[in-house]
Amino acid sequence: MPTLLGIPSMNRIRSKVRRGLEHLLFRLDTTKYIVDRPTLDYQPLPWVGVHSAGVRGRGSVSRWEDIAARVPPGAGKAALDIGSCYGYFAIRLAELGYNVIGVDLNPRHVRIARYATPSHLRPTCNFLEMDITPQNVGTLGTVDCTLLLSVWHHWVQRFELGRATDLLATLWHHTRDSLFFESGEGEVIDEFGLPFMAENARTWLADYLHDTCTGSRVELISEHVVGDYEHYESREVKRGLFLVARSA
Ligand SMILES: C[S@@+](CC[C@H](N)C(=O)[O-])C[C@H]1O[C@@H](n2cnc3c(N)ncnc32)[C@H](O)[C@@H]1O
Repeated sequence: MPTLLGIPSMNRIRSKVRRGLEHLLFRLDTTKYIVDRPTLDYQPLPWVGVHSAGVRGRGSVSRWEDIAARVPPGAGKAALDIGSCYGYFAIRLAELGYNVIGVDLNPRHVRIARYATPSHLRPTCNFLEMDITPQNVGTLGTVDCTLLLSVWHHWVQRFELGRATDLLATLWHHTRDSLFFESGEGEVIDEFGLPFMAENARTWLADYLHDTCTGSRVELISEHVVGDYEHYESREVKRGLFLVARSA
């Protein structure tokens, strides 16, 4: 609102400056030379004009299509996206009516996700910068739907299998309805010290999810391209997408 003298109020100036700084930070976070086009590697953000993502863009869009087809109706429900990266899945869930919190330890990821969230979804789509550990995972609260996509193998590497299992079990304990799960598989066994062999990764993971998430029904929904990481031996590597649902 302009003041009586026609000069914009300080509050209005402050909020314009704040928005300008957020825009500048987004460019610092996503461009090489600030004036060039924002680019991302893992998830696209169509809400801010980033329609593809170099490495995992295709796999992110196709994963979402399969999740959206199975996720329970969202109105008034709560969801957590663990390791939310740039916020693609959290924002998509909010578009379905979920109250969502995306959690990620990387401050750059969280900044980008907040910037990309359309203003009409801001009341229901929030991002928390937090390094989830076995000590603090229980503070995240209970939700209807949890996404745990390509994060568990990082936990195995960092905490070892026993504590990665405790983290998963706690998240499941706090999930009322469904948990979508994906892990690195044969392509990263050595890099992350994973407890299966390439040939049996999917069956091992299905049994492991069933044993860890008590009272669940586990379904391998589909598989999705990971992207052409230079250090992977083969191209078109795929990871399985699992649905862990409460059995009736
Ligand atoms: C491989 S990316 C997967 C991103 C996204 N879930 C997806 O599948 O598109 C892993 C993400 O998890 C985050 N992450 C890893 N360990 C975490 C932890 N302990 N707490 C919170 N975020 C974590 C990383 O910062 C990164 O954004």
